[in-house]
Amino acid sequence: MIDLRQAWLVGPVEIPTRLVLAPMAGVSVQAFRRQGRRFGAGLVCSEMVSCAGIEHRNERTLGYLRVADDEHPLAIQLFGSDPDSMAEAARMVEAAGADLVDLNFGCPVRKVTKTGAGATLLDDPDRAARIVSAIARAVDIPVSVKLRRGLRNGSRDCLRVGPLLVDAGASSLTLHPRSAQQMYTGAADHALTAELVSLVDVPVVASGDIDSRARAQAVLARTGAAAVMVGRAAQGNPWVLEEIVGGDRREPSREEVVAELVLFVRETVRELGERRASSFLKKFYGWYLGRGRFPRPFKQELVVLDSTEEVERRLIAAAPGALELIERLDSEIPSGDEVTIELPISIYGGC
Ligand SMILES: Cc1cc2nc3c(=O)[nH]c(=O)nc-3n(C[C@H](O)[C@H](O)[C@H](O)COP(=O)(O)O)c2cc1C
Repeated sequence: MIDLRQAWLVGPVEIPTRLVLAPMAGVSVQAFRRQGRRFGAGLVCSEMVSCAGIEHRNERTLGYLRVADDEHPLAIQLFGSDPDSMAEAARMVEAAGADLVDLNFGCPVRKVTKTGAGATLLDDPDRAARIVSAIARAVDIPVSVKLRRGLRNGSRDCLRVGPLLVDAGASSLTLHPRSAQQMYTGAADHALTAELVSLVDVPVVASGDIDSRARAQAVLARTGAAAVMVGRAAQGNPWVLEEIVGGDRREPSREEVVAELVLFVRETVRELGERRASSFLKKFYGWYLGRGRFPRPFKQELVVLDSTEEVERRLIAAAPGALELIERLDSEIPSGDEVTIELPISIYGGC
């Protein structure tokens, strides 16, 4: 049995567990990341932030650079295609207090790839390496890169590009071994992750289809990766992180589900403001209340409510015992930044 509660290093940055919470556009808000840390993720990531948005000092984009004290270690992820602008954006990421700057060389969404960013860089290794070296020269924090296997099905380009990026200065690589063309179909081919691990002398993080402790153990054993990354399985389900990192598999009580969701709602409202939060949160209601935890019509009731206060009232009415838990968690968790910033809800979803 591999112990996921072991620390590991990305450059000089110590990551306390071998579990990384995935960057997910339209999901990885600060509330998601702080909760992920609390449930055992050793490293959390922002969703991808537009380098052009930073360059133009777009107010909403800059909102993504907000870092809370209890998120560390935190990676902020950038996407873009121009080495100089990427280096400038990385300086802002460092100044914002991120522990790592992560680069997105895997997003398959057309809006991103048509600008030469995301997964397209797997087809342009020279530019990809120039981006990494420009950033590594510009900042003192380590640079990590997140890749897909390649653009087209069956591609093994990540095995050619990955080592070049390490030579250019990347301190770790994360591989999601699906092609861009595949999006999320088929299975993540972690045989490729094992090959990448054998080719580079920096830590490799395995991403894709990890949704249980058994799966995490199997992928770590098979690949020799330094850590596993968990994305979709953690949506509305922080308990899976606890399980993967070493706890027992257990279904949370209704009170626990409601307490975590209420805290998540409150914090997201602080972060995004009521108007943005109420539409942003709708998908989370399904994620938290699904999995057989609450009857399906209950979620339907919540998504049509006008305010998050009403949502909170309905949730607590459905599990009154949650109130005590909320008070306890509220007193234990350091309160986040109370400032409301109009953060954007990503328009790039589904990378
Ligand atoms: C809704 C959604 C948004 C995503 N956004 C990003 C992103 O912004 N940056 C990135 O590198 N990967 C992104 N991903 C990919 C995930 O980080 C992860 O590599 C992928 O989902 C496979 O892991 P999983 O099977 O654990 O979900 C996204 C995935 C999803 C489902």
